[in-house]
Amino acid sequence: MHNPYVHSPVKPGATLDQIDTPALCLDADALEANIARAADICRRNAKQWRPHSKGHKSPALARLQLDVGAIGVTCAKLGEAEVMAAHGIRDILIANQVVGPQKVRRLAMLRRSADPIVAVDDVHHVAEIADAARALGVEIRLLVEVDIGLARAGCPSGQATLDLAREIDGTAGVTLAGIMGYEGHLLTIEDVEEKRLAIEKAMAELVDNRDRILAADLPCPIVSAGGTGSFRYTVACPGITELQAGGLVMMDVFYRQACQVEDFQNALSLVTTVVSRPNTERVIVDAGRKSHNVELRLPVVQGRDDLVAVRFSAEHGELKVVGGGTGPAIGERLCLVPGYSDLTNVLHDEFYVFRDGRLADVWPLLGRGKIR
Ligand SMILES: Cc1ncc(COP(=O)(O)O)c(C=O)c1O
Repeated sequence: MHNPYVHSPVKPGATLDQIDTPALCLDADALEANIARAADICRRNAKQWRPHSKGHKSPALARLQLDVGAIGVTCAKLGEAEVMAAHGIRDILIANQVVGPQKVRRLAMLRRSADPIVAVDDVHHVAEIADAARALGVEIRLLVEVDIGLARAGCPSGQATLDLAREIDGTAGVTLAGIMGYEGHLLTIEDVEEKRLAIEKAMAELVDNRDRILAADLPCPIVSAGGTGSFRYTVACPGITELQAGGLVMMDVFYRQACQVEDFQNALSLVTTVVSRPNTERVIVDAGRKSHNVELRLPVVQGRDDLVAVRFSAEHGELKVVGGGTGPAIGERLCLVPGYSDLTNVLHDEFYVFRDGRLADVWPLLGRGKIR
């Protein structure tokens, strides 16, 4: 399935100190606990889980999710979906538009080994995908992406969504699988009650679109939504059939601090080495912006209240010693909880997977770079 140790001279059983840095690490126990928890919460709310894989891009990690009941995966790009399909995953939602002759032909080809679903918000998409599907003699499932306030892509709620659903249903080569909406604009509302109400309102709007579709005698089996930052509220909303939340299995500072996600553990860390101690306050580590994304949130140093992230350039990270201690010495290892996992992971070739302090596996991020 995955090809451990190919990129890496380290051997199974190695300790953290034996891994060269900067290195992206996963704690297997925390990861598995997060996966089990998300699956369980979905189950208790009678929802399906189709976790987004854009953040981890790893078929090996996706497989763990499928093993505990996820119905498939969500991808951001066709190329990522092709990687998942090449690793035996069939039920794949591409929660994005697939446009252009090269891509729709690849999409139709993908239908031979998998059963993708694609988000559309315009008749252009329907016609282009249906043409490609008919040319190859396949049938492709489509979801209408509804704009429930995010103001990114998406069909306006109401008549426009119903018209597009009808267009899909009446077009040979494509099947109407349902609708999706992403409440990404509501993740960072500070007041939790206000956040819950805003998410419930957005979900009610999405489900209202389903009701209109059903009332027109059209099928709408899937109503898909939800991200890590909204998971706890969206999962409880009536009418939603499946959740896309994915990053919660790894976690990061953005989810924890900005989205107030509390019930999942930090499974992801970036291991760095202290490379310079120019003075008593300043600690320089070997993880700059080419190793992790710091735009959305700065990282937190795991288990070190005496160190605060301050500033990052391309290859250097600056931490500050607080509280009057001496801080770490040159050569010491520090684990950073990434500020934002999604944009950090794409900077790395592999996850080093540790269990009980020992290297258990190496998972390449096979979907990385698959931006087409
Ligand atoms: C369409 C869609 N669904 C869900 C998500 C949430 O993903 P995650 O749970 O990994 O934050 C995103 C994030 O950007 C998204 O664009």
